[in-house]
Amino acid sequence: MRRVITTLLATSLLATPALAQDDLRAEAAELFKPLPSTIPSVNENPITPEKIELGKALYFDPRLSASGVFSCYSCHNLATGGDDNLETSIGHGWQKGPRNAPTVLNSVLNEAQFWDGRAADLAEQAKGPVQAGVEMANTPDNVVATLSSMPDYVTMFSAAFEGDDAVSFDNMAKAIEAFEATLITPAPFDAWLNGDDAAMTDDAKAGLALFVEKGCVSCHEGVNVGGHGYYPFGLIEKPGADVLPEGDKGRFAVTETVDDEYVFRAAPLRNVGVTAPYFHSGKVWNLTTAVQIMAESQLGEALSDEEAAQIVAFLDALTGEVPEVTVPPLPAETDATPRPSA
Ligand code: HEM
Ligand code: HEM
Repeated sequence: MRRVITTLLATSLLATPALAQDDLRAEAAELFKPLPSTIPSVNENPITPEKIELGKALYFDPRLSASGVFSCYSCHNLATGGDDNLETSIGHGWQKGPRNAPTVLNSVLNEAQFWDGRAADLAEQAKGPVQAGVEMANTPDNVVATLSSMPDYVTMFSAAFEGDDAVSFDNMAKAIEAFEATLITPAPFDAWLNGDDAAMTDDAKAGLALFVEKGCVSCHEGVNVGGHGYYPFGLIEKPGADVLPEGDKGRFAVTETVDDEYVFRAAPLRNVGVTAPYFHSGKVWNLTTAVQIMAESQLGEALSDEEAAQIVAFLDALTGEVPEVTVPPLPAETDATPRPSA
């Protein structure tokens, strides 16, 4: 039934624009949601200005890494879409990691974090890279020793958290989560959903109708246009190893269930226009190509060039405005600060 309605919408969009647009908006409102206009709340971590300020400092601080070289910002650059624009990230000791870095923008609205959803929320997630050998290669004890050695950090932790042990690895993660919750990027699609007819081009509207009609929306829905639910990459037709390398079995590593081989979280598509390269492998640099691969591998459908271009126009309407983030001055080291290791 949905297919019929949206086919009608796609074909009638130009014929009776005003009416069709209202119908398209009504249908889109059931499938997606505009971004919240205030900072979303997160589980068991009330967000306060003090936590956000601390989290921002930690996000920019390379001293969370063993080498003193890598900060969250190294791989999640807020000036370039919240990622690193590399096939797979480069971290500790110039090692190349196994996966492409997803954007941190709007990540607070994902159901779970990472390509395989192995972290439930951002606070759990943030502890991962700090300890990962190929990312920041640090230990919780060394992080706490580093942060405790700088009086300004101790003051900031005490302002943000109650109790004597305010400087802790858990609180580091909670503060980073609070900062990340502010990284919400309202896009033309939100303005259009909220009633501004002129916010999206006709191509973008036609692309939205196709996105619904073809079935992309069955996996990429909700406020983040994805970021919920797990699906086999290659549901209908498995892409070649050039796009889907055989060594990474996705969610299988989390659940150890055979059905989860090559299953990944449906990627959230906000800001996808500025976060090339694509897929967990980072093997595809062109968004149109990524869209065509999706149509074939997930839906068994070949898109015409025009259809692919219109879907890309819709995806471009998901590129939002990044909140202004000023680079924070960071507390200075003291004699007690552990020195960077190689
Ligand atoms: C994944 C934040 C440090 C590379 C993520 C995600 C978030 C995030 C929120 C999940 C996004 C999603 O699933 O949509 C952070 C924070 C960091 C940090 C707060 C600092 C504490 C780094 C560093 C690197 C890096 C230094 C590169 C060396 C990656 C990669 C993934 C990822 C490759 C995907 C990993 C996977 O799915 O297995 N990060 N990140 N991150 N980040 Fe970071
Ligand atoms: C990833 C678009 C249909 C599940 C992606 C990406 C794009 C995209 C652009 C890459 C995002 C990135 O790298 O940041 C589309 C379009 C579709 C469509 C335009 C319709 C033509 C589907 C369907 C499913 C699905 C129907 C589920 C059956 C996924 C999954 C990923 C993904 C699991 C992550 C793949 C990976 O591990 O790298 N999609 N998609 N998609 N999509 Fe789709």
